[in-house]
Amino acid sequence: MSIHGKKSLPYIVRKVFEIQHKLYQQHVRMCSTGRLQEALKIEDEQDFPKINDLKAQAEETQYYYPVGKSFKHEPDVGEQFTYSQLRVRLAGPHQLQPKPDADDLQFGKLFTDHMFKAAYHKRLGGWQTPEICPMENLVIHPAAKVLHYAVELFEGMKAFRGVDGKIRLFRPELNMARMNASAQRSGLPSFEPEEFIKCISRLVSIDQEWVPHTESASLYIRPTLIGIEPTLGVASSDSALLYAILSPVGGYFAGKQTGGVSLLADPRFTRSWPGGVGDKKMGSNYAGTIHVQKEATKQGFQQVLWLYGDDHQVTEVGTMNVFVFMINEHGERELITPPLNGLILPGIVRHSILGLARQENQFKVTERKITMHELKKAIYENRVLEMFGAGTACVVSPIERIFYMGENLLIPTMENSDSVWIQMRNTLLDIQYGRVKHPWAIEID
Ligand SMILES: Cc1ncc(COP(=O)(O)O)c(C=O)c1O
Repeated sequence: MSIHGKKSLPYIVRKVFEIQHKLYQQHVRMCSTGRLQEALKIEDEQDFPKINDLKAQAEETQYYYPVGKSFKHEPDVGEQFTYSQLRVRLAGPHQLQPKPDADDLQFGKLFTDHMFKAAYHKRLGGWQTPEICPMENLVIHPAAKVLHYAVELFEGMKAFRGVDGKIRLFRPELNMARMNASAQRSGLPSFEPEEFIKCISRLVSIDQEWVPHTESASLYIRPTLIGIEPTLGVASSDSALLYAILSPVGGYFAGKQTGGVSLLADPRFTRSWPGGVGDKKMGSNYAGTIHVQKEATKQGFQQVLWLYGDDHQVTEVGTMNVFVFMINEHGERELITPPLNGLILPGIVRHSILGLARQENQFKVTERKITMHELKKAIYENRVLEMFGAGTACVVSPIERIFYMGENLLIPTMENSDSVWIQMRNTLLDIQYGRVKHPWAIEID
């Protein structure tokens, strides 16, 4: 950047613009409940893992999908994009939006000032130069495959502002592993996970004032990959667009916990089937659930408990994985979650809860099939202690009631003082908000 010890003009102009941008952002900052930072509680911040430590960490991570180096691209994917190629085009001061108060946030209604974009064109050799630009509409051809065959997939992750003011991502390498698996199943190009994480971190860092200054909210990150080839054949899309947008979201448990959720379990509907894509995060998995969710709401229930098969297997709840904590037939305390048999999204919170519970070793932890027959019998015999959903959006959500085949099944989740769901929720929040040092929370620069 410097010529004979002096800064070049374009460098100076960019710096002035960046500083101006930052000042303006500070000026319009409202995304805070004004909570005092508890930075002094953390003594040695050096131990928090950073983005650059991810590579080594990813090598060791065991997950349903290959993480880090163990992931293999399709041989014909072509050139990859890298973080070093990233171009940044900042929004002008007049384009910056005022930030909302963190207490008013609703899920996915507001977006930050910038977005990430990278195009893929097979005929041009693969991935093109990635860029961060002001948030803008997309222009795509009406024949783009995403609009006809739902050639689309996405991820859901969050950036948290810790009690020390630092911003962290939670296990982003797992989101990237799942996203690449969804891309391959959709015939879309895969990408280098680490490079995309670095680009996302830069995006979050540019829009950092949008990460709420509170432990009751966070910044939701929505990486998305769509097939944009403008041809109507049902075939893989030789052009694609990878983008990421950011949305500040309130905590599910902002304020006091008001009660558990009620579920409609209707065996006439299913979310996934063997050999399908229930274990991928594709938009097409969600469109068909909307009618059923509407039906549940109409009947006064908050979520749908998804069942599968003639034996009415419990699979997932809404957009969460499901856990049952009960005394099993042998009198043992057991935490059960349905197995990853292709029907279930391998949730990152699910994976983390299983890891924590196995590490604690306080009770039996199993991934196994559980049917409505078994669950109902255990509820009748007062052996079910808790049920909860787990996912990025709400972390952990207690379940209180299931309406199944004309019957209300009541679960005493909210009645236990020493609940597993609260322990799990608190441990995860402690990690995410940097109250404890943990390799799962990755600090961004
Ligand atoms: C169907 C479904 N199941 C489970 C989850 C939970 O996954 P995660 O813990 O990765 O957010 C989600 C949300 O992403 C989902 O959409």
